[in-house]
Amino acid sequence: MTSATEEARFQAHIDAEGKIEPKDWMPEAYRKSLVRQISQHAHSEYVGMLPESNWLRRAPTLRRKAALMAKIQDEAGHGLYLYSAAETLGTSRDEMYRDLLSGKAKYSSIFNYPTLTWADIGAVGWLVDGAAITNQVPLCRCSYGPYARAMVRVCKEESFHQRQGFQIMLGMAHGSPQQKAMAQDALNRWWWPSIAMFGPPDGESKHSAQSMAWKIKRHSNDELRQRFIDMTIPQADFLGLRIPDDDLKFNEETGHYDIGPIDWDDFWAVVNGEGQCNTDRLAARQKAHDEGAWVREAATAYAAKRAARKAAERIAAE
Ligand code: 3HC
Repeated sequence: MTSATEEARFQAHIDAEGKIEPKDWMPEAYRKSLVRQISQHAHSEYVGMLPESNWLRRAPTLRRKAALMAKIQDEAGHGLYLYSAAETLGTSRDEMYRDLLSGKAKYSSIFNYPTLTWADIGAVGWLVDGAAITNQVPLCRCSYGPYARAMVRVCKEESFHQRQGFQIMLGMAHGSPQQKAMAQDALNRWWWPSIAMFGPPDGESKHSAQSMAWKIKRHSNDELRQRFIDMTIPQADFLGLRIPDDDLKFNEETGHYDIGPIDWDDFWAVVNGEGQCNTDRLAARQKAHDEGAWVREAATAYAAKRAARKAAERIAAE
């Protein structure tokens, strides 16, 4: 079969809502785009643990500490799920880590902002995980089977993350004036980076058109951004907190909220390594990678020894 025929069959299968599995024929460009997106998604989970771990030993109560620890453990698991999904496409864990640690591969811009107070942990759960859910639920219907299936469990756990964050914000917003001020300060600092994390505006998204044709992406960046904004503003109203946007207004005609301009210069500066925490985040991940070398060496040596023993047993049995 010519590759043109295979390509036509592949696209027809996707158009009919079929799933592509690791052993199926797929265009090299489809495979490469998935390795790019899934590995960067995994990097985001792996790096995303750092802002919250900053508050693990300073959580105000044992209960908050336990919930935050559970959330961080979930994120580690999401990263492992996604690295494993990416490996079904022929890349390796080592290759992905090399690309992350060298700065070649991206991770979500949102994790390059500092968590300055305990209220930030609430804002991260409420806004960042809330945005992640909005972005990840459609990925449960992604055309690539392993990615779609990984997302089902991830989204269930993200819902707990968002609820525990919102509950922290609720406690503070309805707490003392100082606590309410901390919650408002956190919202002021996390609102705009959270709506930018959906990616560049549709007109500047270089992957969206092809990604949507392949049903990797089900909605455009702006569609999901608007969905998150419309869902979150009433929540801020319920908290009694003000969205830091003087241009914000409900558009009776469209039924959506209109917002002021997003600072895309800041977004791209952060994506391109100039954020407040980019250097620290990669240094922390490089340190973890270096300190984990002995575990990788031991696991590799054990696997080699076990394979040699099995081979010897096979020869002895012949
Ligand atoms: N941070 C860093 N880079 C970003 C970005 C962001 N928030 N948004 C877009 N980009 C990058 C893209 O990766 C792409 O660069 P590349 O070609 O080097 O990969 C470039 O900007 C152009 O953007 P596009 O919109 O054309 O790229 P995509 O079609 O890939 O859309 C995306 C970007 C919406 C993030 C998409 O990749 C996606 O849905 N990824 C999977 C979900 C994900 O990563 N979610 C965010 C992090 S996970 C998380 O928050 C964890 C939670 O537990 C807290």
